[in-house]
Amino acid sequence: MCGIVGYLGSQSAVPILLNCLKQLEYRGYDSAGIAILNGDDLTVAKSAGKISFLENMLQEEGIPESHVGIGHTRWATQVRPTDLNSPPDTGCTSNFAVVHNGIIENYQAIKEWLQKEGHSFVSETDAEVLPHLVEHFYQGDLETAVLEVINRVEGSYAMMVFTHKEPRKLVAARKDSPLIMGLGEKEYFLASDIPAILSYTRQAYILEDGEVAVLKPEGAYILDWKGLPVDKAIFKVEWDAAAAEKAGYDHFMRKEMHEQPRALKDTLSSRISLDNRYVQLNEVSLTPQQIKDFTRIKMVGCGTAYHAGIVGKYLIEKLVRIPVEVDIASEFRYRDPLLDERTLVVVISQSGETADTLAALREAKRKGARVLAVTNVVGSSISREADDVLYTWAGPEIAVASTKAYTTQLICMYLLGLYLAQVRRTLSEEEIATMITHLRQLPQQVQMILNREQQIKKLAETYTRSELENIFFIGRGLDYAVAMEGSLKLKEITYIHAEAYAAGELKHGTFALIEEGFPIIALGTQESLLEKTVNNVKELKARGATVIGLALKGDTQLQECVDEIIYLPRTHNDLTSILAVIPLQLLAYYAAVTRGTNVDQPRNLTKAVTVE
Ligand code: M6R
Repeated sequence: MCGIVGYLGSQSAVPILLNCLKQLEYRGYDSAGIAILNGDDLTVAKSAGKISFLENMLQEEGIPESHVGIGHTRWATQVRPTDLNSPPDTGCTSNFAVVHNGIIENYQAIKEWLQKEGHSFVSETDAEVLPHLVEHFYQGDLETAVLEVINRVEGSYAMMVFTHKEPRKLVAARKDSPLIMGLGEKEYFLASDIPAILSYTRQAYILEDGEVAVLKPEGAYILDWKGLPVDKAIFKVEWDAAAAEKAGYDHFMRKEMHEQPRALKDTLSSRISLDNRYVQLNEVSLTPQQIKDFTRIKMVGCGTAYHAGIVGKYLIEKLVRIPVEVDIASEFRYRDPLLDERTLVVVISQSGETADTLAALREAKRKGARVLAVTNVVGSSISREADDVLYTWAGPEIAVASTKAYTTQLICMYLLGLYLAQVRRTLSEEEIATMITHLRQLPQQVQMILNREQQIKKLAETYTRSELENIFFIGRGLDYAVAMEGSLKLKEITYIHAEAYAAGELKHGTFALIEEGFPIIALGTQESLLEKTVNNVKELKARGATVIGLALKGDTQLQECVDEIIYLPRTHNDLTSILAVIPLQLLAYYAAVTRGTNVDQPRNLTKAVTVE
């Protein structure tokens, strides 16, 4: 994370690299750096902080003349944003420089092996193994060395590398992290995102997983992971710069919904052992004894983050058999909550700056509780003040309506639940391994739902036209928790009055509102509760409601009594929430588009609520 760029051509590389990096600033970052060929020397300039800081540093020292280089703005995920941890990384000999977006899952094993081979490391980053690996495999040809490297690393990467030993060459590779090659007049650009290069060219190759790009002054080409040439069509960028920031999507929200498979994978990847048997939360410093001593857990957050906490409650109580309470942060902070040193307080916040959540964290610490933060922003107030942090590696979320932050928060809830169950031995090794197998499939299953977004678009166009004023979301158990998130998503960007109800609660008052054509979204992914939910749907239908059902593939019970059905891929029944929310996000999105509201910046709302 978060933006990488490269240049090879006849112009001066430094201003181009800095300009390309600036085009990616909107994505957020906390350190920046470049590496260039300065004559025969490979020169690196990097620092924690903003690009302007790096720029000043370069200006003070005099900008070196160079025609090849790479740059990175990194949003630290696993490590602190310090000068040493800033990109680019070099190997022991400083012969190679690398920038890398993504996560090298097996970096620990590679690092240990390289250390035994005599390599020494200076940073805490996973990315640093890459230049050392290139160094290890280099035998006079950079692209061959890169092919060796990509056949050994696991995880996601978009990487760029060059060496002063072959000054007229820049090599890049990708897997599960975007990478493009821009084509200019006898010059080439590399970037993780199209906006970076738009002021120079609108023609690009979009690299696919496993592909390697080789750039030389006399021409550029692309190879597959075996080193065989790949024929690629040139992609012509038709969007303007503002649209390009959204990578061709109409809105940040849609872009961010589509980033979820990658975000989920990143959030999961290095927290699961390579043999898929257990969860490893290396960043959490709680000892097994502390984990065993906890007598209760409190989840605290606002809005979407609070909803993630509710999923966490259902799950952790079931898996760990420990009482879990969920609180809205603005309530928690003033209600003198019962806390002690045997309470684990989990504060959840995408921004890490929400005033009420921060105050709740402080209240918890004041009362001696242990605080674990689940947040998306490294260096945020909440991340700094919590005892432990579990980061969601969603990448910057720009749309006010939270999507990828929520689903990555759910991944953290799953990981936390499994981790606690592992330590407290409330699940068997087999049960944990089974859930991990299902967890691993979630990113791909989310992608399958996203691929069917046209179905949801049609439903939105049919059922959420301007005359629609009210809608209810219903469900039981985990489905109720997701119903809350679905209704919040819809109300915040469409301004339709939406409410979520526990399906069994309707007959205690809400039924009075149901009349002919009243729209209901009914979630039926919880198999043990399905029959009950189906009965509630039948009661609603008998009163004239129009019902859209959400069910697991293969269901017929719900499908037979609703007007429309949306199917989800099958997964472990405790993990359905992450799949069930995707159609609800899409429904809210397309309803907003249909009604012409401001999708990314709904009225009266702001992304981070830093005041009470
Ligand atoms: O940054 P946070 O997660 O602490 O923000 C909490 C809420 O303000 C946020 O989730 C809000 O509810 C979203 N706009 C919902 O989409």
